[in-house]
Amino acid sequence: MHEKNVYLNGEYLPLAEAKISVLDRGFLFGDSVYEVIPAYFGNLFCFEAHLQRLNDGLKAIRLPVSYTTEQWLDILQPLLIEGDAQYIYLQITRGVADKRDHGFPLNCTPTIFAMCNAIAPFAREQGVQAITLDDVRWQLCHIKATTLLANILLRQKAIDEGSAEAILIKQGYATEGAASNIFAVIDGVLITPPKTNEILPGITRDVIIHLAKANHIQVEEDVISLEALQQASEIWLTSSTREILPVTILDHEPVGNGQVGSVWQAMNTLFQEYKQVVA
Ligand code: PDD
Repeated sequence: MHEKNVYLNGEYLPLAEAKISVLDRGFLFGDSVYEVIPAYFGNLFCFEAHLQRLNDGLKAIRLPVSYTTEQWLDILQPLLIEGDAQYIYLQITRGVADKRDHGFPLNCTPTIFAMCNAIAPFAREQGVQAITLDDVRWQLCHIKATTLLANILLRQKAIDEGSAEAILIKQGYATEGAASNIFAVIDGVLITPPKTNEILPGITRDVIIHLAKANHIQVEEDVISLEALQQASEIWLTSSTREILPVTILDHEPVGNGQVGSVWQAMNTLFQEYKQVVA
């Protein structure tokens, strides 16, 4: 088996040889942003949308890195490995400073790291369990920052309780999952919380809204109270690595009739078709 190459600051090298300084601000402060970009059948999925979000994040953290789409493609495409479903992980940190200091360093070169991994097959059809937890995160959740300690503690609490995800509740309303967006079917309408600073603007979320509108599935961007979530006939989690994952048990109670719902079946079929045609 040949060793997998990763990209680090202009070089392709084996994973074990990719090293960064302990003074890298991504390591010291989580001072960095990232993207997770799926690739199906060798094509990067919704690439422009991922780049747009990356650029928005770079701007939000005041990190001037401006590569064109073509330049990013040149960097990332050689990393793609064989297989139907993979994802590129791309991280940009503020770089290595001379010393640890909270303020931005002067003349610092950003660190750019990328690698490719297979997306493991996931038995979505059976549905998963989720629990609700208090959304203890900060007020900049729209930035895809690597500063993810709150998210990982929340996800781990869910795992400890035998659940696949934590659905986060802020002031009585659902925001998103620890690493996913949420959708609910309430009174026959597909609803997802609106884009605010309280959620990550998920690319999968946008694709689902687009597919719903194009296929006469009624969809709304609106708040979802905890009570409404508990009454929903379907709940889904969406992300680039898990696609659309139906939640059949929420807080140990069945969602709807406890089975994967018909709206999910329809949307999942549309999504699987869309993956084949959109590069
Ligand atoms: N996470 N919300 C959060 C907090 C996320 O971390 C993610 C994805 C999403 C869904 O976004 P998208 O559809 O663009 O993947 C929403 C990725 C997969 C991760 O951190 O690995």
